[in-house]
Amino acid sequence: MNADLLTVRVERRDNEAEGICSYELVSADGTPLPAFTAGAHIDVHVAPGLVRQYSLCNPPHERHRYVIGVLRDPASRGGSQAMHEQIRAGAALTISAPRNHFPLVNAPRSVLLAGGIGITPLLAMAETLSSQGAQFALHYCTRSPERTAFRDRLLSAPYAAQVRFHHDSVQPLDLPALLAGLERDTHIYFCGPAGFIDHVKASAAAAGWPPEQLHLEYFGAAAAVPIDGDQPFEVKLKSSGKCYTIPPGVTVLRVLNDAGVFVPASCEQGVCGTCLTRVLDGVPDHRDLYLTEAEQAANDIFAPCCSRSKTASLLLDL
Ligand code: FES
Repeated sequence: MNADLLTVRVERRDNEAEGICSYELVSADGTPLPAFTAGAHIDVHVAPGLVRQYSLCNPPHERHRYVIGVLRDPASRGGSQAMHEQIRAGAALTISAPRNHFPLVNAPRSVLLAGGIGITPLLAMAETLSSQGAQFALHYCTRSPERTAFRDRLLSAPYAAQVRFHHDSVQPLDLPALLAGLERDTHIYFCGPAGFIDHVKASAAAAGWPPEQLHLEYFGAAAAVPIDGDQPFEVKLKSSGKCYTIPPGVTVLRVLNDAGVFVPASCEQGVCGTCLTRVLDGVPDHRDLYLTEAEQAANDIFAPCCSRSKTASLLLDL
């Protein structure tokens, strides 16, 4: 087994809200789990060939358990469905050690904006900021109270007074008004589905918020969805000189894997960065949600699990 992989046991599973379960994972041999920081996630090997990323939402000082929250997503390609249907208390799971692409930075004050199940990394951040005595507020947007996971935990947390719930069905968050009332040195962390992220990004841009004070993580992604008008293109591998045609609706990753060219991958949705591959020639059509705008604009790296090509061919450093 890969040295970075761990075997854990599901100690308990709880229904947190409509369609959302939490899973408490403990080490199978009783040894402390690897330490993590707020914003970290683990890969969960849900079933053979099915690996999904879930943020850790328990207090980061804990070493005896990891807690994840899983939304049963109707658009799921199998991951959340399998978690909900097959993974019960007592089950053994293979996971990766925690990795953090969404860390807290030193800031005079912070605002955490959660959209739905995007609450999970922000819960760990709230725990950390609270334990540091930092100035922060958490705004948690959900469709309705019934779909608000971890509500009891938040209401009884030491930082409960810094939490505001916003329900689309009652009174949605007025983001421009919130931004207008913030100190300009506030760092904003936001996590949620693509529509929520886009809304926060657009509102922050309209308010002239400094981009370096915005920190985001997508939950789920529509990145791999084919777009009408997609054209076939070629990828050429530097090492072998071999060329492969990528038809519309099929990913570069799939074509290469089918041809026996191994490219490491995990989420296959453009959110984890595992498959990033150097581009030596040609212009990628970036569809991932992982690279920053500047990294995408450099056009020297792309995510073959979802991105395509703007040019007739791409030369890859493979
Ligand atoms: S496999 Fe996760 S970004 Fe490509």
